[in-house]
Amino acid sequence: MLKVGLVGWRGMVGSVLMQRMREENDFAHIAATFFTTSNIGGPAPDVGHGSGSLKDAKSLAELQAMDIIITCQGGDYSSDIHPRLRAAGWQGYWIDAASTLRMEKQAVIVLDPVNLDQIKTAIAQGGRDFIGGNCTNSILLMGLGGLFKAGLVEWVSSMTYQAASGGGAQHMRELLKQMGVIHASVAHLLEDPASAILDIDSRVAETMRDDGFPTEHFGAPLAGSLIPWIDKQLDNGQSKEEWKGQAEVNKILGNASPIPVDGLCVRIGAMRCHSLALTLKLKQDLPLAEIEQLIKGGNPWVRFVPNDRALSVQALTPTAVTGKLDIAVGRVRKLNMGPQYLSAFVCGDQLLWGAAEPLRRTLRILLD
Ligand code: HSE
Repeated sequence: MLKVGLVGWRGMVGSVLMQRMREENDFAHIAATFFTTSNIGGPAPDVGHGSGSLKDAKSLAELQAMDIIITCQGGDYSSDIHPRLRAAGWQGYWIDAASTLRMEKQAVIVLDPVNLDQIKTAIAQGGRDFIGGNCTNSILLMGLGGLFKAGLVEWVSSMTYQAASGGGAQHMRELLKQMGVIHASVAHLLEDPASAILDIDSRVAETMRDDGFPTEHFGAPLAGSLIPWIDKQLDNGQSKEEWKGQAEVNKILGNASPIPVDGLCVRIGAMRCHSLALTLKLKQDLPLAEIEQLIKGGNPWVRFVPNDRALSVQALTPTAVTGKLDIAVGRVRKLNMGPQYLSAFVCGDQLLWGAAEPLRRTLRILLD
């Protein structure tokens, strides 16, 4: 059995990864070693082979004994440890949730329902760094992979609605705190059916603008509002999240000449599902039924929602999709701009396909 080291398994993405690995019985196929940065020697989780002790995630010697390392520890850890491990001659496979190594030439961004060939070619050619993609891009490609695979997409404009979990566990907690503070500020008025809605509204606005409103993690109110910027500001006016769209989508697809992908990334008050409102220019004017077939055939996780009001409201939402591997795709129709212009709305759980799932699936591909 291959020796697999897990780092950062207790954090949010790591916990989802552990849950999925247990559900899929992945631990039966590996000899797992759990690493820690804070509790060396403490008890490791029992994943079916008895519980060992936690190893030091900073010990190059301990890490070098692994055939495969899977890390959800974050970018700082990857920047610190990966180059030193490689410099020490470690030849194992590095599977990483962080963005640090994604755009490195030797690294493959893993999303096997879309780029299995690329992953297999990299393995055959001695590739050793396999990195999970940005969640928004993975969800876009899981949803509309069928259109990309058919070579139909000339460009994509992507307007995102990104959940609190993309910021981290503390951000999810802060969103809920904000909701609670807002509700508490008007709870007595809500109970009185005769109270004036404009009084309620002005109290809510006052509460959200108050210096005491909890914004430590988001830096701004999110509940009852939105934040039209995600990640760092780049010199060209894009956010780093927006920049990743074109860079990563084209790398995942292995495109020699890049498809333009651009748009605005916006944080909204969903818990863990990212959504994207997309405008695509297709290379040809195809009948809608044919386009829908291509989307449905993209991969087994696409849940196509017909462009119908009741179905969209019910099935094309973060509430419907959260905690599931389904990628909901709907609102597919031709736009007024012309017969080659298509709209689509895609929604997926950013902790599953957007983070943990491609990592464990890459592990299984390496074990095959
Ligand atoms: N950068 C993403 C976000 C999450 O902030 O929503 C991880 O890909």
